[in-house]
Amino acid sequence: MIRHIIAAIATLLALWAMVFMYQLDQKAERFRQIQEIIEKSKQEVPVQKTTQPIQQIEESSVEEQMKKEEDEVAKKLKALRERAGSAMAFKVSPLYKQKCSSCHGVNGEGAIGPSLIGKSEADLYKALTDFKSGVRKNYVMYGLLAKMSDADLKALSEEIATFEEKLKAAAE
Ligand code: HEC
Repeated sequence: MIRHIIAAIATLLALWAMVFMYQLDQKAERFRQIQEIIEKSKQEVPVQKTTQPIQQIEESSVEEQMKKEEDEVAKKLKALRERAGSAMAFKVSPLYKQKCSSCHGVNGEGAIGPSLIGKSEADLYKALTDFKSGVRKNYVMYGLLAKMSDADLKALSEEIATFEEKLKAAAE
């Protein structure tokens, strides 16, 4: 009996030692990685210094450049929004507006996603259910539809199928 207990304790000790060694190994590996990163960062500094001798000026110009780019993006977004607002030919449901218009356009005319104008209700519903079930593979559409109910998909198909008529009516 006692021999068994001693054997068990010895086994436990051996296991503990193994875990301990493994953790040490991991720590050593992490340390090595950190050292590698430090080495790399050391290598990059002199390169920057030789190409850009005046570090401070370079930093401020990077900031300026970033600010410029941010301003440009903001301007473009504003222009897009204005265009979207004025291009809106007819009202859409809040569901379409919230979930679909950013990619398919305020009136289904297409942007990042393809135009949805002129598609039949049946085709739209089939596309949506195929995306949702994964039969048709598209991560964007799949992720979006996974959380939507079948009733939503039906309603959206029905609504989008009327877009062509509404666009024509608005153009007259
Ligand atoms: C983040 C962008 C994005 C959003 C939001 C989005 N879609 Fe799409 N959609 C796409 C892209 C990209 C495709 C093309 C995928 C493909 O053909 O594989 C697509 C394809 C489709 C198609 C198939 C069109 C065709 O020509 O076969 C339908 C229908 C559709 N979307 C409806 C919707 C509806 C309804 C919503 C709102 C619930 C929506 N989409 C929201 C990007 C988006």
